[in-house]
Amino acid sequence: MSIRTKLLLAGAALVGASAFAAAQAEDAVKIGLILPMTGGQASTGKQIDNAVKLYMKQHGDTVAGKKIEIILKDDAAVPDNTKRLAQELIVNDKVSFIAGFGITPAAFAAAPLATQAKVPEVVMAAGTSVITERSPYIVRTSFTLAQSSTIIGDWAVKNGIKKVATLTSDYAPGNDALKFFKEHFTAGGGTIVEEVKVPLANPDFAPFLQRMKDSKPDAMFVFVPAGQGGSFMKQYAERGLDKAGIKVIGPGDVMDDDLLNGMGDAALGTVTAHIYSAAHPSQMNKDFVATYEKDFGQRPGFMAVGGYDGIHLIYAALEKTGGKTDGDALIAAMKGMKWESPRGPISIDPDTRDIVQNVYIRKVEKVNGQLYNVEFETFKDVKDPGKTKK
Ligand code: PHB
Repeated sequence: MSIRTKLLLAGAALVGASAFAAAQAEDAVKIGLILPMTGGQASTGKQIDNAVKLYMKQHGDTVAGKKIEIILKDDAAVPDNTKRLAQELIVNDKVSFIAGFGITPAAFAAAPLATQAKVPEVVMAAGTSVITERSPYIVRTSFTLAQSSTIIGDWAVKNGIKKVATLTSDYAPGNDALKFFKEHFTAGGGTIVEEVKVPLANPDFAPFLQRMKDSKPDAMFVFVPAGQGGSFMKQYAERGLDKAGIKVIGPGDVMDDDLLNGMGDAALGTVTAHIYSAAHPSQMNKDFVATYEKDFGQRPGFMAVGGYDGIHLIYAALEKTGGKTDGDALIAAMKGMKWESPRGPISIDPDTRDIVQNVYIRKVEKVNGQLYNVEFETFKDVKDPGKTKK
């Protein structure tokens, strides 16, 4: 064989090898997971990252013949970061999904990019009602604040709570929580005696707690995002609001399972409405909690479940499209999807692309020496009450 022939053959082999590698890369489905892994919302990012890892360990990393590749990016819950990272993931990495989004402003920031690129945006954490209306490519597996706040508003009225002071985080989901609670509570005859909004970043609750105590409400309605419940409850107890008999009620974010045990006895008896409790008594949840605790050394909270269900939804959609990654086909596949989650039965509303799920009323109790949100009443298949009527 001449040198020339040898060189030609070697060249052909190289071309073949790179074509093979390209085909393999084409066969991979990339998912851009944008989460707050640092900063004030880091516990949300950690929980979702853990849950996605757990799901993939249980279900493998291949769907419909395609390898699933997760590209994790930390946006520190800064919406400008979210936008830049989503853009890079879509344009450079050619991801087929963007997913995660630890806070509402992050989910908002990515929405125009999802629309422009026709890439599904799977919202696994954020909870403002209007998010799914920001793009036809958004699907949510977390919750809305309206789902739980309407229900706790009705519950408060029925359970003899007449005067409430509110403390909510001053951004979109806090405003939803306040609005929907107030609507239901006052319609039932309740009165709001004090209304306080606290900043999202590094809130100091102490100055407001004294005002709350002085207004002598029967209960305090509280919304703070996942990760802040521990410091809130510490200051609530330090100011003696528990001793003054002022109960905390609200959506369950403030009683997040991953912090609950650290709150101590001040949390005992707290009643909240929420979509997930680590004490949910299904076999699936018992297995989920046990495996999560074994792998990550802590209890999963509701953010973990939003991530676990979000990656499930992506797997199930890919299965339904036979591995096709066309954005419209994936969204069509997701609409109306129903499955069993560790939180109970859930589905994706085909009209709004938002999650439909049970909301549970729970009370903090000690079970085997540990604090748990023990569910005692179930509202089945709750759609988001916060959708604007078209
Ligand atoms: C949100 O920003 O939408 C959000 C974050 C954490 C929560 C609830 C809502 O616990």
